[in-house]
Amino acid sequence: GKVCLAYSGGLDTSVILAWLIEQGYEVVAFMANIGQEEDFEAAKIKALAIGATKFVCVDIQEEYVKKVLFPAIQVNAIYENVYLLGTALARPVIAKAQIAVAEQEGCFAVTHGCTGKGNDQVRFELSFYALQPDIKVITPWREPSFFKRFAGRQDLLDYATEKGIPVHQTKSKPWSTDENMAHISFEAGILEDPNHTPPKDMWKLTVDPLDAPDEPEDFTIQYKQGIPVKLTLADGTEVSDPVKLFLTANAIARRNGVGRIDIVENRFIGIKSRGCYETPGLTILRSCHVDLEGLTLDREVRAIRDSYVTPTYSRLLYNGKYFTPECEYVRTMIAPSQKTVNGVVRARCYKGSLSILGRYSSTEHLYDATESSMDELTGFEPVDASGFIAIQSIRIKKYGQSARKDGGS
Ligand code: ARG
Ligand code: SIN
Repeated sequence: GKVCLAYSGGLDTSVILAWLIEQGYEVVAFMANIGQEEDFEAAKIKALAIGATKFVCVDIQEEYVKKVLFPAIQVNAIYENVYLLGTALARPVIAKAQIAVAEQEGCFAVTHGCTGKGNDQVRFELSFYALQPDIKVITPWREPSFFKRFAGRQDLLDYATEKGIPVHQTKSKPWSTDENMAHISFEAGILEDPNHTPPKDMWKLTVDPLDAPDEPEDFTIQYKQGIPVKLTLADGTEVSDPVKLFLTANAIARRNGVGRIDIVENRFIGIKSRGCYETPGLTILRSCHVDLEGLTLDREVRAIRDSYVTPTYSRLLYNGKYFTPECEYVRTMIAPSQKTVNGVVRARCYKGSLSILGRYSSTEHLYDATESSMDELTGFEPVDASGFIAIQSIRIKKYGQSARKDGGS
C-alpha cells in the first residue's frame, strides 16, 4: 500500500524512507513549507533518488500566521511562564496538510520520524486521528524492527551508505532542531546536561545580544481586536500583510538579539527536558499585545482570561489537543475578549531587550487620564473612598481579631 511520510531531508527521515520501501510500501514524501529555512528542491531530489514515488510540498505559511499565530498573540499563549509554544503551534497545521496530501494521493497510512519520548508524536497522531479517524499511523521509532536495528547514529549512517543515501558531512551539530516561521528549537545531545551553556554558534535565528547594533531600533505596532494589523519601522515603512508583518517583526527581533530562551520544561508524557528556543517576532508581537491590554482591556475580563483561557489554551496546545472539542470551545473564548484591544504600541529593541516606549488608542476610553490623575478628583468624592475602605475592612477586621486571639500576627 501507499503511505505518506513527513519528510525533512535529514538523515533520520531519509533512512525511514528507504526502510519503508524495503518493507514493501510505496512512499509519498510530504513536506510542509511553514517558513523554515530549507532547500526544498534539494529535499525533493533526495527523496525521489531514495525511491519516493512522489514528492509533495505544501505552502502553509499564510494559514499558520492567520489561523494559529495571530490567535496565539491574542490570547498571549505561553507554557510554564516562558515557552511561547513555537513547535507546538506549528503541529496542527502541518498535520492537517499531511492528512490532505495522504487523502489526495490515496495513502492508507501516514508516518513520521518523531521519537517515542517526545511531545511531537502525541501532537501529530492526535491531530491525524481527529482529522481522519480511519487513518493508520506507522511509527518507525516505536517499531522494534526499526529501533532495534538502528540503535545508534552509526547504524543510520551505515544503512544510508548501503542504500546510497547522500549524507551531508556538514559541521556536526550535537543537538536536534525544529524550525518554523515563529521559532527554532534546540534540544538533546550536549544540551541534555541542563548546566551546559550552549555554544555561541548554536543560536541561528537571532544575533548574540552582545553583537547587536549599538543603536536602538524603534517601531510601532497597531492592533485591531488584538490582532497586529500594521507594523511601522523607524524609517516610516508600513507593513500590513499578515505574513509580511510577521516576517518584519522577525527581522527586527533577529537583528537586535530579541527572543532567546534556555529552559527546562515538563513534557506531556511526564519527563523533564531542556530546550533552547529562539522566537524572535512572536516575542515582540506578544509582549506589545500584553502592553496594549493594560490600556484597553476591562479588568475583570482580563482576570478571567488570564486565569482560565490563557493557561488552558496553552496547555491544550502543548499537549497536542488542538483538534479536540475542549480546544474548539476554549478557542471561541479568545475573540470576544479582544473587542476593545484596539490601539498602537510604540516599542524599542536594543541588544536583546524589548522595551515599551508608549501606547495610545483613539477608539478605546477605559483609561481616563483625568480620572487616573493624582491631582484631580472626578466621579467620586474623597468620602466615598472612606466608605469603600470601611466596607472592605469588615471581613478583614474579623480576620485580624481571630488572628490576634490565636496569637498570630
Ligand atoms: N520541547 C519543545 C516542545 O515540545 C520543542 C520540541 C521540538 N521538536 C522536535 N521534533 N525537535 O514543543
Ligand atoms: C522528538 O521526540 O521527536 C522531539 C522532542 C519532542 O517531541 O518533544
